[in-house]
Amino acid sequence: MNTKVTVIGAGNVGATAAQRLAEKQLCDVVLVDVNEDMPKGKALDLSQAAPVECHDSKLIGTSDYSYTKDSDVIIITAGIPRKPGMSRDELIETNSNIMKDVTAKACEQSPDATLIIVSNPLDAMCQIALKTSGFKKNKVIGMAGVLDSARFKTFISRELDVSVENIEAFVLGGHGDTMVPLPRFTTVAGIPVTELIDPKRLDEIVDRTRTGGAEIVSLLKTGSAYYAPASSAVEMTKAILFDKKKIMPCAAYLEGEYGINGIFMGVPVKLGKNGIEQIIEIKLKDDEKEALDKSARAVEDLVKGLNI
Ligand code: NAI
Ligand code: 2OP
Repeated sequence: MNTKVTVIGAGNVGATAAQRLAEKQLCDVVLVDVNEDMPKGKALDLSQAAPVECHDSKLIGTSDYSYTKDSDVIIITAGIPRKPGMSRDELIETNSNIMKDVTAKACEQSPDATLIIVSNPLDAMCQIALKTSGFKKNKVIGMAGVLDSARFKTFISRELDVSVENIEAFVLGGHGDTMVPLPRFTTVAGIPVTELIDPKRLDEIVDRTRTGGAEIVSLLKTGSAYYAPASSAVEMTKAILFDKKKIMPCAAYLEGEYGINGIFMGVPVKLGKNGIEQIIEIKLKDDEKEALDKSARAVEDLVKGLNI
């Protein structure tokens, strides 16, 4: 393959993302972890699935960053996940140090790569990656909105018993309890969802979306969601590798857009070979803008405490 993606953190999200990237034949994959042997084992196992799955993607597992040289995209999933009862924000101390370390090592090898950040607390980790890498803001993107809107779509499709493919949904804001699912921009085969589901039920679905991550943590008990997060990061990677100019909700560094400055927030962006090629600004109603501002304040408070 002539495209190369590095996935840092060979745990649940990282290994699942590596599997999806390879099985969709999108690129060769380098799976990196602080643990030396584990990524080798996972990459070897995934490589041995290739003859059965019928793909030719090459997979390497390593703790040596020299193998990551000249990657097109770097997906960072390194860090600890939350346990039941923990918020994403409680991970900040441990994951900040990990984020600084892995970003510096990976970006030294691949100065032209695009970074997709997954580790939590997402919006703060993006800020660290931007600062540590010294990359332009369009090359540092956070994965959250694709996942949060996938959850919203799933719940709507179950409610209406229609295909998930019929649903377009948008979730803006930070990746936390203050995220902002937007029913007004959510459609089912082009029909506004507000015409198909009554407001009370829609509010319940919005609430379930907001707490979608915690619902899975409380069921798994030993970690957080990884199948849908991995799919979401892979979908973003595909848009970049194939220069698709696809609009999706991602965490982007804002400098005045939506009246927000100097932090990462989930907004609609166009993804292509240059990373974020456009931030799409939509006119929000007062209550939607208020919810987005509340979410921005939560991210600002979190970032204030960071030593960057
Ligand atoms: P995991 O514990 O299964 O995997 C994390 C991996 O990172 C481990 O293999 C660990 O050895 C590795 N790691 C730790 N320090 C490292 C370092 N310095 N260098 C390289 N690798 C290192 O966790 P999981 O479930 O894969 O989640 C990873 C992160 O992604 C967590 O912070 C989690 O909260 C976050 N997450 C974010 C989502 C989002 O929507 N943005 C969705 C799901 C998870
Ligand atoms: C989630 O939303 C843990 O942030 C992760 O599942």
